Amino acid sequence: MQTLTVELEDRSYPINIGAGLLRQRSLLQAALPARDILLVSNTTVAPLYAEAVRSALTDRRVVEVVLPDGEQHKTLATAGRVFDVLVANRFARDALVVALGGGVVGDLAGFVAACYQRGVDFVQIPTTLLAQVDSSVGGKTAVNHPGGKNLIGAFHQPREVLADTDVLGTLPERELQAGLAEIIKYGLICDRPFFDWLEQNIEALRRRDDAALAHAIFRSCQIKAQIVGRDERERGERALLNLGHTFGHAIEAATGYVDWLHGEAVGAGLLIAASMSQRLGGLAAADVDRLRVLLGRAGLRTVAPQIGADQAAHFMSVDKKVKSGRVRLVLLHSLGKAYISGDYPDAALQDTLRAHFGA
Ligand SMILES: NC(=O)c1ccc[n+]([C@@H]2O[C@H](COP(=O)([O-])OP(=O)(O)OC[C@H]3O[C@@H](n4cnc5c(N)ncnc54)[C@H](O)[C@@H]3O)[C@@H](O)[C@H]2O)c1
Ligand SMILES: [Zn+2]
Repeated sequence: MQTLTVELEDRSYPINIGAGLLRQRSLLQAALPARDILLVSNTTVAPLYAEAVRSALTDRRVVEVVLPDGEQHKTLATAGRVFDVLVANRFARDALVVALGGGVVGDLAGFVAACYQRGVDFVQIPTTLLAQVDSSVGGKTAVNHPGGKNLIGAFHQPREVLADTDVLGTLPERELQAGLAEIIKYGLICDRPFFDWLEQNIEALRRRDDAALAHAIFRSCQIKAQIVGRDERERGERALLNLGHTFGHAIEAATGYVDWLHGEAVGAGLLIAASMSQRLGGLAAADVDRLRVLLGRAGLRTVAPQIGADQAAHFMSVDKKVKSGRVRLVLLHSLGKAYISGDYPDAALQDTLRAHFGA
C-alpha cells in the first residue's frame, strides 16, 4: 500500500492506494472510526463490494443506502432521500458518511456529509478509475440541477480516501478508458516524465496491470493533492485541473450527457486544448500528434462530435469557468506545462472550434 497526504492543515488527510485494501479489516476499522456509519453506494457497486465494508464493521451501527445507478440521479431529490435516512436513524454530529462507488456516489454522499448537521465526517472509497484519480480527492462535492451540472455543492474534504485497485477488475472497459483521460491530463498539466511513462505503459494500464495502475493512480493523486494543497478553493492554480474540461463540457452538454462519458469528453477536450495551444504558437505540431496517438491508444475518441462552432462556444460560455464575461482556458506551453489564460485572440478560438466542431 502507498500513502500520500493532502496537506490542508487541520483538514489534512491520507490517500491510501493499493491492491486488496477492502480485504484488510484492520485498515477499514481504522479508517472508519465512528459508531454510527452511513454507507452510501449504488445498485451496481453495493452487490459487489458493500459486504467487504460491512463485514469489517460488525461492532458498529452501519446503515446502508443503495442509490439507483447513474448521473441522472445525482440530484437534490436523491440527496433528500439520504438525509431522510440519516434523520430517521437519528444519526448525530458524530456520524460518519462513507461513499462507496464512482464519482456520482462520491459527489452526492460528500454533499450530504457537508450539509447534514452543518457537516459530518466522510470517507471516500472510490471504485472507478476516474474517482480514484480525481473526484475522490480535493473536497468538491455537488449535485446537479436541471439548469446545469454540479451547480449545487460545497467544499467538504474527506477524512480519508481508500483506493483499492482490485475493484477496478469489474469496471466496464469504457469507464476504465474514461479514467485514463484524466490521468493523461495530469501528465500534460505539469509532469512530462509522467506523460512519457504513460506512453510506455498505456497497454499495461488497459490490461489493468496492478503495478501500472497503482503507479498511475499514485502519481495522479499526488499531483492533484499538491495543487489542492496550494489552492483549495480554486482561486488560481487549481483551475489548471480543468485542462480539456471547458471543451469537454461543451461536448457533454451539446450531446445531452448520453453519448459521451465525462472522461471521454475530457479526452477529446485535451486534444482541442492542445490544438488551440498550437494555433497560438506555444505547442509544437509533433506534440499535438503525440497526444492524439496516446489518446487513441488509450481507446479514447479523438474526433469531437460535429455540434458546430457556435453551439460549442455557447456551451463553453455557460460553463462555470467564465470570469467577467470571458472564458478562461487552460492551454499548454508544452507537454507537461499548462497555463491559464483569458487573454487570447478570439479568432484563434473561433478557428479552433470550427476545426474541431465543424462550422
Ligand atoms: N468532485 C470532483 O472533483 C469531481 C471530479 C471529476 C468528476 N466528478 C463527478 O464524477 C462523476 C463521474 O464519476 P464516474 O466517472 O466515477 O462515474 P459513475 O460514478 O457514474 O460510475 C460509472 C459507472 O461505473 C459503475 N461502477 C463504479 N464502480 C464500479 C466497479 N468497481 N465495478 C463495476 N462497475 C462500477 C457505476 O455504477 C456506474 O455505472 C460526475 O458526476 C462528475 O461530475 C467530480
Ligand atoms: Zn474531469
